[in-house]
Amino acid sequence: MTDVVDAPARPARLNYVGGSWVPSASGETYTKANPMRPSETVGKFSSSSEADAGAAVAAARAAFGAWAALPMARRAGYLTAAAAVLESRLEEVARDMTIEMGKPLREARGEAARASQILRFAASEAFRPVGEHFEQASGAEVSTRRRPVGVVALITPWNFPCAIPVWKLAPALVYGNTVVLKLAYEAPLTGLHIAQAFAEADLPAGVLNVLTGRGSTVGAALVRDERVDAISFTGSVPTGRSVRDEATKLGKRVQLELGGHNPLIVMADADLDRAVEAAYAGAFWSAGQKCTATRRIFVQNDVYDRFRSQLLARIERGKVGDPLDPDVEVGPIVNETQFDDVMGAINRARDAGYAVAAGGDRADDHGFLIAPTLFEDVPDDAFLSCEEVFGPVTSLYHFATLDEALERANAVEFGLSAGIFTSSLAAAARFGNEAQAGLLHVNSQTAGADVHVPFGGIKASGFGPHEQGRAAMEFYTDTVTLYVDP
Ligand code: UN1
Repeated sequence: MTDVVDAPARPARLNYVGGSWVPSASGETYTKANPMRPSETVGKFSSSSEADAGAAVAAARAAFGAWAALPMARRAGYLTAAAAVLESRLEEVARDMTIEMGKPLREARGEAARASQILRFAASEAFRPVGEHFEQASGAEVSTRRRPVGVVALITPWNFPCAIPVWKLAPALVYGNTVVLKLAYEAPLTGLHIAQAFAEADLPAGVLNVLTGRGSTVGAALVRDERVDAISFTGSVPTGRSVRDEATKLGKRVQLELGGHNPLIVMADADLDRAVEAAYAGAFWSAGQKCTATRRIFVQNDVYDRFRSQLLARIERGKVGDPLDPDVEVGPIVNETQFDDVMGAINRARDAGYAVAAGGDRADDHGFLIAPTLFEDVPDDAFLSCEEVFGPVTSLYHFATLDEALERANAVEFGLSAGIFTSSLAAAARFGNEAQAGLLHVNSQTAGADVHVPFGGIKASGFGPHEQGRAAMEFYTDTVTLYVDP
């Protein structure tokens, strides 16, 4: 590695490889614009190359043996120390997140806090049993143990630039793997805070390596690299599928978290105030840029008009604008390309004749702001009812019976999250049995994830073991069965 520089007090706009802050081998950089003020740049970051990916993997390989050999509680200590650093910088991390990718400060603060919680949770897992003990048929003993997989590459998205990298790396590290983390092209600054926190926690060199740059260059290089044992990817369906196909051909373990088209069913017996609030937050917070966002709202006929007018009033009240304003609930779309995609989808839906009940346009001339948009009377087979539009866009549908609602809610290729609002235990139970999604919510919004429980989708929304909670151990360890006959 050339041009090693000292770790700066603030996150450097460099890669973190082998325990040092280093520029890309190519020397190339890119600038990231602030989505609220596109003429302002957030910083210059390394445009990492295939050579940088190779150097990071080499560093992770070299660090693996010693790291895996440390007692789990010692490894956990580094996570706890990094959590404390992140907590001490919560406000700075949250502001940087808001400035680089536009998530409103109120949500960015929550996400930064969640990242430290995830680290503390994963550290506490070091004190839980990690194997089982059996008696052999012969009377001798059998036990299972967990071993790290090796070097894992984590490819992460811009929409949760703090929580998602941490929810992948925390279990990876605590179970003894070493990591190459590829940060999202659109949100590198937040992720470099994570690298800085581990640097300050004195994590041994090479255990965590962090790269910025294009997925098509550095992400692809990590997927191809034969020294990488496992890949965890969160992002779009087409990219995820090609990651899976290429990595499994090379015999790697793969975990994918992809898109969603998440339904919320509102029964006539629901607490409508709470249902409206959940629909608003689920559809429009983070400008709908969550794979768990509410994309379809099914409302039972008897309460449709009341729900509709309450939701319209809530949209009217919600503040759209500068995400640094702590009262703003809906900020900008992350960049111009995404903005054009979302506006393009809205216009396509308008041209198809679907009724716009609210929004449908940019919210103002500054930044990539789109007004919270509500469609109505959209057919179930329309693109809007099946394809993920990654912005503040959702649709309202009528239904008569729960049977009908479940059938229509399930009629998409995705299965990430689903919700129901009802006061009926029977309806909730049926929903729990029949809704096709990995995350089910009774009387809560479709987005959100607790740090200590499994997270993941079914159908086209995911592949491989789920993330977070105890489930994370399945992906980041191998199970070994040991027969001992004394
Ligand atoms: C959340 O809803 O808080 O990229 C988490 C996403 C998901 C994470 C959602 N993988 O939107």
